[in-house]
Amino acid sequence: MSAYLRLGVNVDHVATVRNARGGLHPDPVRAALMAAAAGADGITAHLREDRRHISDHDIERLMAELKVPLNLEMAATKEMLAIALRHKPHAVCLVPEKRQERTTEGGLDVAAGHNHLAPFVRELVGAGIRVSMFIEAEPRQLDASKSLGAPVVELHTGAYCEAPPGAERERHLQRLQTAAAHAARIGLECHAGHGLGYDTVEPVAAIPTIAELNIGHFLVGEAIFTGFDAAIRRMRAAMDHARAITPVRA
Ligand code: PXP
Repeated sequence: MSAYLRLGVNVDHVATVRNARGGLHPDPVRAALMAAAAGADGITAHLREDRRHISDHDIERLMAELKVPLNLEMAATKEMLAIALRHKPHAVCLVPEKRQERTTEGGLDVAAGHNHLAPFVRELVGAGIRVSMFIEAEPRQLDASKSLGAPVVELHTGAYCEAPPGAERERHLQRLQTAAAHAARIGLECHAGHGLGYDTVEPVAAIPTIAELNIGHFLVGEAIFTGFDAAIRRMRAAMDHARAITPVRA
């Protein structure tokens, strides 16, 4: 278990706003540098096949300018593999991707996709990249990730965040708790993310075997009201409050 819970800030939706006008503002790399200064332990960016938010040039600049680790989210395709092997980010998170979806809906079916995913994991791990799989909180998906040799899983918190407060959300939280405990038992580092905001983050941050949360959309939205720096600091404080520790970096 890691006492310090890392925060990865996802800057995709800074690029979404930039791309709405086709210019250079707001710059996701500037946002990433600001996030790091506000306490983000890493930056996450999803290079989608359709380049709807982050661009290839953004990834080049993030690699060149960031002092904190970059976690590149990508689909398991040959095109993305070549890009990852060229840049060698600290981490790659393999995610499912459908053209029509608004955001990453559901986790990767690692159990069913074992044969397709195996060479991607092998090449990425072989290049020294820390590979994670974005999965639903199901033991069979964790076991499949472990058998592929990826050292990290990221649990999809979307269903938990979307559930109304009360029994249904509690059920989703229990699934996350069970999965995070299972990850620790089988020797996988466990991350979590998707849809987290101030009102949903603390119960997930309190799960002791989760080492990292990745949060984007809410922080970028909240930046409109309080600024990006303040939103990140408040999220960081909520995470530390949930862990009830004085933040000490590992
Ligand atoms: N983790 C993964 C693997 C994701 O795909 C996303 C969304 O891009 C996130 C975390 C962050 O989700 P959100 O932007 O809803 O905070």
